[in-house]
Amino acid sequence: MNKFFLNLGKQPLANNFLTKFSPKQPTYNLKLYFNTKTKMVSISKRIPSSIMFNSKYPYRSSMSITMRNSFKKLSDEIKKRFNPNLLLEIGSNDGALIKNFDKNKVIGVEPCKNLAKITKKIDYKTFDKYWDFKLAKKIKREFKSVDVIYSANTITHISNLDNVFKSICHILAENGVVIIEDPSLLQCLKKNSYDQFYNEHIYLFSTLSVRNLLSKFSLEIFDIKNLKTHGGSLRYYIKRKKNKKIKISINLKKQINRELKAGLDNFSTYKNFTNRVTKSKQRILKILNNIKERNKKVIGYGATAKAVTVLNYCNINSDLIQNFTDTTPEKINRYMPGKNIKILQYKKNLLKNFDYVFLGAWNFKKEIVNKESKFIKKGLKFITHIPTPKILKLK
Ligand code: TYD
Repeated sequence: MNKFFLNLGKQPLANNFLTKFSPKQPTYNLKLYFNTKTKMVSISKRIPSSIMFNSKYPYRSSMSITMRNSFKKLSDEIKKRFNPNLLLEIGSNDGALIKNFDKNKVIGVEPCKNLAKITKKIDYKTFDKYWDFKLAKKIKREFKSVDVIYSANTITHISNLDNVFKSICHILAENGVVIIEDPSLLQCLKKNSYDQFYNEHIYLFSTLSVRNLLSKFSLEIFDIKNLKTHGGSLRYYIKRKKNKKIKISINLKKQINRELKAGLDNFSTYKNFTNRVTKSKQRILKILNNIKERNKKVIGYGATAKAVTVLNYCNINSDLIQNFTDTTPEKINRYMPGKNIKILQYKKNLLKNFDYVFLGAWNFKKEIVNKESKFIKKGLKFITHIPTPKILKLK
């Protein structure tokens, strides 16, 4: 049964960056639910994929050094551990991972045509289609089977999970491996990062819920890794149950125990999270209002989907945060969805005009703080809402 636990209010589509602010930008109700049987946490509203992931999708995996390094490291590991003849990536974005493989050994699947174009241009086989059974059948006809299927931050974006895994099973080699990574529900609860929820993140996975889901398809997790990316993610290594050649790592049991200890199977845990989120809203507003009273200026760093949830849930407008900045071309000179806050192009001296930085991309705190050390030394202060709203002591 789906039980409601948190209402994050009226939200615009998180990646809908308008060139001109409009108070009439469409919104939906962002409500979170916990399924007591499957242990899955999800949002109630399902926006059609074609509205969210189209030729204007602005998110690019290669925009940060942290992500580029993480994909390089993973591709080295995949080659060493599984040595695939053919790897398929679901949601290959701008090619941050597949570019690390030989062109004849990888297939990308990327429905956002603007992104698929980037890897097609450099001759990487890319299907600019949604991942579904029809596409899986087409790929099977052409390539027979796939040894490794990889997908990062994509599966949680797809409403019909049964279709996703049915399609995976259709083309996965008998001894094939599926590697999936997505933000971790445990980390989200620990960090109070309620901003992991927005229209694109339909689900927030835990090992408990993924295990339940996979068992329907005779698949099982054989290893698991905690990652720092996206504010704390889990990488699940999955195989067919009947493949006994691969042993199940102790890491799986350890992670399950961590999740049970934190009460991820229990509804009351989510109600407690709701209380912490409500407090987080009060605190961030107090900090920003105090800064406003002192006539100081704030810029948001990283026009993330996460920041959109925060701004709209807390009702933060341009009187509290005057601008955002981002390096992504598709976001520059546009407005934060739902808000009259303009996104400025990142420039070396931009931060000079501000007294405080609000970390929209708090998941890249280290990278950003390193990059901006010069301004920090001169007195620029950083605000984060993770795990609880505060002004960081950095000097
Ligand atoms: P991410 O946290 O992955 O976003 P989302 O919540 O949308 O999934 O994206 C980070 C954003 O921050 C991305 O738009 C690029 C931007 N960014 C900068 O502009 N400068 C930086 O130095 C870093 C690290 C990120």
